[in-house]
Amino acid sequence: MVNEYEIKKQICEIGKRIYDRGMVAANDGNISVKINDNEFLCTPTGVSKGFMTPDYICRVDKNGNVLEANGSFKPSSEIKMHMRVYQQRPDVNSVVHAHPIYATSFAIAGIPLTQPIMPEAVIALGCVPIAEYGTPSTNEIPDAVEKYLPYFDAVLLANHGALSFSDSLLAAYHKMESLEFYAQLLFNAKQLGGPKELSPEQVQGLYEIRRQFGLKGKHPADICVGGKNSCHACGGCATAHNGGAADSDLVAAITKKVLESLGK
Ligand code: 13P
Repeated sequence: MVNEYEIKKQICEIGKRIYDRGMVAANDGNISVKINDNEFLCTPTGVSKGFMTPDYICRVDKNGNVLEANGSFKPSSEIKMHMRVYQQRPDVNSVVHAHPIYATSFAIAGIPLTQPIMPEAVIALGCVPIAEYGTPSTNEIPDAVEKYLPYFDAVLLANHGALSFSDSLLAAYHKMESLEFYAQLLFNAKQLGGPKELSPEQVQGLYEIRRQFGLKGKHPADICVGGKNSCHACGGCATAHNGGAADSDLVAAITKKVLESLGK
């Protein structure tokens, strides 16, 4: 197992990457890593994530209470959002929150990232819904994000930014990179007259590749509250504004049926 000091160094390295790549400005963004069921490392609040050293990193319990923090450092003001992800997704070991320019622009415009425009984004990322706006640092954001957590591996936060999560810090960061790259491509394609989407058959072929690779996460390949057979084919169910994903009972019922039909 990687020792804790190494994980703190990795958090600093990823913080520098998100800062250097312009995915955050000033003191924005936060990162956390699960150590065990009741110990988590997280970035401190109010510092530039591009200039951290391991002694900046705080340790919290599963409720976000401080277990260890040097000097005047306090855990991220968004720690409740991170903890909600860990609560709902036992497969997740790391959470990254950033404000990448293109993805955040889509989050501000209220446009979820659901158009199937390139194979890598369909296979590795899936659709990215928009969670309703919440006041930063309050329970409003975790509450808004929660209903999407069982089905997606990244979520846009309305008028705010993006959240990605995965089984490792590097994988969570890569999801953020993929999300921003996808958002930038979609934005550019819209300037060029609109993207030519992959066909439903092509999307199904990509889902099949994903299944064969056994990729981790909760890619919504087989889940669609809109009644069609894929999130990408529906294009609308991932939006927070049409009420599609708001009916969590319906989503849960459909998910159950899909999993039953897959023999799981
Ligand atoms: P923290 O510095 O408290 O982690 O907050 C940064 C941020 O981006 C809030 O959304």
